Amino acid sequence: MKEKITQLIARMTLEEKASLCSGVGAWHTKAIERLNIPAIMMSDGPHGLRKVIEDDEKGNETIEAICFPPAVNLASSWDRDLINQVGQTLGKECQAEDISIILGPAANIKRSPLCGRNFEYYSEDPYLSSEMASAHITGVQSQGVGTSLKHFVANNQEHMRMSINEHIDERTMREIYLASFEKPVKEAKPWTVMCAYNKVNGTFCSEHPRLLTKILRNEWGFEGLVVSDWGAVNERVDALKAGLELEMPSSDGIGENKIIEAIKNGTLKEEILDNAVRIILNLVFKALKNKKNSQNYNKNEHHLKAQKVAEESIILLKNQENILPINGSKKIAIIGEFAKEPRYQGGGSSHIKSFKIDIPLDEIKKLTTDAMVQYAQGYDINTDEIDNTLIDEAKEKAQQSDIAIIFAGLPEHYESEGYDRVHMKLPPNHKQLIEEVAKVQENVIVVLSNGSPVEMPWISSVKGVLEAYLGGQAMGSAVANLLFGKANPCGKLAETFPVRLNHNPSYLNFPGEGDQVHYAEGVFVGYRYYEKKEIEPLFPFGFGLSYTNFEYSDLKVDKTQIKDNEILQASFKVKNTGMTKGKEIAQLYVSKSQTTIIRPIKELKGFSKVELDPGQEKVITIDLNKRSFAYYNTIIKDWHVESGDYEILIGASSADIRLQTNVTINSTNKIKRIYHRNTTIGELMEDPKAKPIIEDMAQQIIDGMGLSDISEDNPAIAFNMMRYMPLRGLINFSKGQFTEEILEDLLEKLNRN
Ligand code: BGC
Repeated sequence: MKEKITQLIARMTLEEKASLCSGVGAWHTKAIERLNIPAIMMSDGPHGLRKVIEDDEKGNETIEAICFPPAVNLASSWDRDLINQVGQTLGKECQAEDISIILGPAANIKRSPLCGRNFEYYSEDPYLSSEMASAHITGVQSQGVGTSLKHFVANNQEHMRMSINEHIDERTMREIYLASFEKPVKEAKPWTVMCAYNKVNGTFCSEHPRLLTKILRNEWGFEGLVVSDWGAVNERVDALKAGLELEMPSSDGIGENKIIEAIKNGTLKEEILDNAVRIILNLVFKALKNKKNSQNYNKNEHHLKAQKVAEESIILLKNQENILPINGSKKIAIIGEFAKEPRYQGGGSSHIKSFKIDIPLDEIKKLTTDAMVQYAQGYDINTDEIDNTLIDEAKEKAQQSDIAIIFAGLPEHYESEGYDRVHMKLPPNHKQLIEEVAKVQENVIVVLSNGSPVEMPWISSVKGVLEAYLGGQAMGSAVANLLFGKANPCGKLAETFPVRLNHNPSYLNFPGEGDQVHYAEGVFVGYRYYEKKEIEPLFPFGFGLSYTNFEYSDLKVDKTQIKDNEILQASFKVKNTGMTKGKEIAQLYVSKSQTTIIRPIKELKGFSKVELDPGQEKVITIDLNKRSFAYYNTIIKDWHVESGDYEILIGASSADIRLQTNVTINSTNKIKRIYHRNTTIGELMEDPKAKPIIEDMAQQIIDGMGLSDISEDNPAIAFNMMRYMPLRGLINFSKGQFTEEILEDLLEKLNRN
């Protein structure tokens, strides 16, 4: 293949090579018939096919497909195998529809609950997000179809998304925003990576050599193709130089002409173009080689898969007095237009034309033959206006029933690709409906449809809350099964629900000012912030209830002391102590309480989902490696583990730690400190090697600074007064005792050490 591509490139004209660097229309790469180079088709995704009907490329008419639950749900399943299966299913559909690359998954971090695209993203936590993205990619690609891991990187808001400049410090980039992409790139090896629209620290991602070449290719070993987000190219030549091979959609000749011009005038080396063409051809022929002909799929079977995924990802947030599951022949009021017109997917490029939709009301009726089900609209989905007539009708029906199930959430116009929300509240008519119905009916269950957290000021007046998120086209049947105990809830939150928006760490800096946004909260995104600030959330990261109970025991580590390049194995038991079969998501967090680094209280470093029959117990084993303990050190520009004690915490959520043990990790790489004129006395005293040297001089310095009296009475005060004195200050204050020459000698000695 390599040889064939080299020969092809040698036969191509400059114009042909440049033309390959941009697509044809919105979804195809360019074909060159003269050389038998075919075109391949890409399509959105990522949780279903949004394949535009071929002869309708200018329009938006798409094929009928299966809308699986989007990333917000997938991540709430915390189930690598399940997501891998979703990926496989999508891969099969792509093969059948002649799609070579599905545009996703999206591994952007949920920085603010307001981001309009949060439903397409997995988590606020990079470890969870990267695990989910890896599983998704591996699944799709196992079918010989490529993925496009997007949007690289830090596309965390829709406001000004094509021009916003994000100021993000290096450690935060590495530990949060890049970390979400790193593992999928290194381990799942997506065929393509899609660069984001935004700028990072002054440079568009599409023309960021450091991101696209230095980190992605050189550090992480990416060998696939970088494609622009649709319209993300600013200057085509700069983008090509930075490592962006394919511009999408077609720039109608503009991009290629710029490339040709730059080569002709000597500002772009032809070998850069050749290299890009090599990568593009490699992708095209790889897709061709993997194409499976005459593959077909059964839409109804895939619909059932979508239902299973929804059941595995919907989260039971509240279940007071075990109001759920509903059993027996109760009189039930089903309230809210979402019960008839479900909101099950987000807006924008991932919007799927579903071939079929399960309607919650119909599905509930199927499960309640002997019950009396009454429906009340409650609100109009097309407006926020409170309609008292609808609310009164809902109250009346709720009053006549034993239970009221209210379907509420965010209507489509509230959240979408392209814009962010401006608040975290439910529409006034949904909120009012819940509050009014709760006044006349004590058994209220709220089923929420939303792509991202909402405030719930009414939480104490309802007994049950089922967070369905945007559960895909089969959400209706999944919700019905969960409400009536045909399925046991087993999803957990992949993000924190704060009580109020202003508790969120990005609150003061979202979406920024003008075209600038500062990620001032640094690494303290999501639970990392709430925990550090001791702000109690409405529902913590990792939280979710079940109809059964689980007991944790017997936490063991295979070693209590390791070097940072060794693997540590933690194992513990989880037992189903209830009466119902269920699944538990056990989470492992690592914490370092004694630290000189500003770091979160704890961070997720492992998890496992297990299915247990009543009374059954299983052992869960989780491996930890250097990265489980490391932080990104900007001095050595690498991951570093502080030597010392770490706590291994096992929890049912980030706020429900059940087991704990300690381990000692010894770092194998030392950070060499470089001392200079402005190093302070305090810094030297903290370094065990430098301390004796500076202590020898301490008395001289104290005397020179006129602190002898204080020092005699109270040495600690004298030291504190000197702590922040830079070495060069001693020259001024020591009355000639400490000179430039002494300083030079000292620095030489310290740095030699
Ligand atoms: C979105 C991408 C999408 C692309 C193609 C862009 O606007 O950001 O996620 O894949 O359009 O539809």
